Amino acid sequence: GDVAVVVPAAGAGVRLGPGAPKALRLLEGEPLLVHAIRRVAAAPSVRMIVVAAPPADVDAVRTLLAGIAPVTVVAGGAERQESVAAALAVVPEDVGIVLVHDAARCLAPVSLVERVAAAVRDGAAAVIPVLPVVDTIKEVAPDGAVLGTVDRSVLRAVQTPQGFRASILRAAHAAAADSHTDDAGAVEKLGRPVTCVPGSDLALKITRPIDLALATHLLTLPDP
Ligand code: CTP
Ligand code: MG
Repeated sequence: GDVAVVVPAAGAGVRLGPGAPKALRLLEGEPLLVHAIRRVAAAPSVRMIVVAAPPADVDAVRTLLAGIAPVTVVAGGAERQESVAAALAVVPEDVGIVLVHDAARCLAPVSLVERVAAAVRDGAAAVIPVLPVVDTIKEVAPDGAVLGTVDRSVLRAVQTPQGFRASILRAAHAAAADSHTDDAGAVEKLGRPVTCVPGSDLALKITRPIDLALATHLLTLPDP
């Protein structure tokens, strides 16, 4: 493989409700992070994996993943962006392609990892997996008054793994002054092109309790 995968996993999971850090919550008896790493490690393109863990859980995560795949574990930061930067800092300079993948998208399939990696290998500077937006989207004022209906056909919901030429991701992170919720956003601010590949329904982000219920069901299907 020629790809390093950086896995931010240091978030608290506030929207999931009280409990352990989200990456360590259980889905069918195993932490979300284990589900995520197992799939990433099975992708032929992947040479190395770096996980940014909650600072208090670095040793526990190292132990947890030791039996799953060879993984480097670092302490994450207070913001996702800081967690990605901490993990990116230990990726060797000779790795040309870096994917950034949320631990919370723990059922993202091997085929998606390969699709994103292949698009970077084929020359893209930055690649994001996307899905069409299914709901009607409205712009709404603070008082609840509807200001207008957005043209949904030009919108896409963005997933991870996002893929980058390593030098461009490093430059984007170095230049990012304000916070961004996805790494491609930092590349956009550099003025570099970001391109899309088809996402996957299985790459949903576990965010609220209902997502855990959905993921539990998805695990019973043949593919995940
Ligand atoms: N993440 C991280 N470091 C942070 C915050 C988030 O590594 N300081 C990671 C999460 O662990 C997750 C991914 O970034 O894998 C996407 O973030 P999100 O879904 O928002 O997870 P949390 O921040 O944990 O959830 P919440 O916002 O509900 O607290
Ligand atoms: Mg968050």
